[in-house]
Amino acid sequence: MLRRSFLKSSLALPVSGMLLGRSSLGFSQALPSPLVAPKSRPSDFDFVFFTDCHLEPELAGVEGCVKCFTQINKEKADFCIAGGDQVFDVCEQDLTRAHLLFNLYQQTEKDHLSGKVYYTVGNHDVVGINQKSPVEPGAHEYGKKLYEDYFGKRYYSFDHKGWHFIVLDSIGIEYYKIFKAEFDEEQLAWLKSDLSSVGPSVPIIVVTHVPIATVLGTLSTHSHNGPGPIAANSYAVHELLAGHNLKAILQGHLHVWQKSEYQGVQYLISGAVSGAWWEGAMDGTPEGYTLCQIRGDQLHLSYVTYPWVARVQHPKS
Ligand SMILES: [Fe+2]
Repeated sequence: MLRRSFLKSSLALPVSGMLLGRSSLGFSQALPSPLVAPKSRPSDFDFVFFTDCHLEPELAGVEGCVKCFTQINKEKADFCIAGGDQVFDVCEQDLTRAHLLFNLYQQTEKDHLSGKVYYTVGNHDVVGINQKSPVEPGAHEYGKKLYEDYFGKRYYSFDHKGWHFIVLDSIGIEYYKIFKAEFDEEQLAWLKSDLSSVGPSVPIIVVTHVPIATVLGTLSTHSHNGPGPIAANSYAVHELLAGHNLKAILQGHLHVWQKSEYQGVQYLISGAVSGAWWEGAMDGTPEGYTLCQIRGDQLHLSYVTYPWVARVQHPKS
C-alpha cells in the first residue's frame, strides 16, 4: 500500500487478553488470541506470517523490527514467512539507498531473528516502479533483480509436514514506472505445473503480498488511492486452485487485520510489523504479526502484537 493512502487510526486497547481495534470507518473488531492447545501430534506445527516490516533507518524502524523479531523468536515456530514490503522504500529511491535498505534489513534479521525465513516480494521491494524513482526502465537493476539478489526467487513452493506452501509474486510492472498488482503469465504457467504434482487432499497455503480476496476492498476508502487492494487477475489464481485442498491465503499490503472464510478457506490480511509505517496503528490494527498454528488438519490464525510506541503519529491525509 502507498503511505499517502493512510487514514489516521485510533488506538487499539487490550481487552481481556484480546485486542479491540477501531477503524476509521467506525467498525471495531476483536483480534483473535493464540490457541492454548499444545501440539499433540508429530505433524502439528506453528509458523509465523509477518509482513510489511517497511524497515528504514528513520522513525526507529530498526528498533521496532528488533522488538518484533525478538518476540517472534519466543513463539519457537518451525519457520517464518515474510509477506513483502520488507523495506521502505526501494521503489522510489536510488540504488545507493536500495542497497542500504536491503543490507540493513538482512543484517537486522540475521542478528535478531532465528530460524528459516521464506520471503515474498512486495511493491516497496521493487526498484523503479514509481515515478519519483531515478532508476529508469532498461537499467540493469530496474525491477526485481535486486530483490532476487538479496532474497531469492520471486515465486516458489515448499513443503512442510505434509502441507504445501505456495509463495506468489503479485507485483506487476507496467511502462512507464508503474506498479500494477497482477500475476504474470510465466508465473501462472508455473503455478499450474506446480499444482499438477500436488494431490487433491494435500492441504495448501498460498502467500501473496497484494491480496487476491478481501472484504476490505468493498468497504475501504483506500481503494481510490493508487493500486487497488486486489490483484487485477486474481481470478486466474482462484481458477488454478479450484479442486485443491486450499486451506488459507495469507496476504499483506493493506496493514490491517481482516479475515474471512468461504467454503473452508481462510482469507487473511495480516496487520503489519510496522503498523502505519512506524507511525502508529493502522486503521485499528496495531503493530504485530500473525501466528499460524496447525493442529491436525485445522489452521488457527491469530494476531500477536508486541510492545512498541510510535515516535510520531502520521498526519491524517
Ligand atoms: Fe506495505
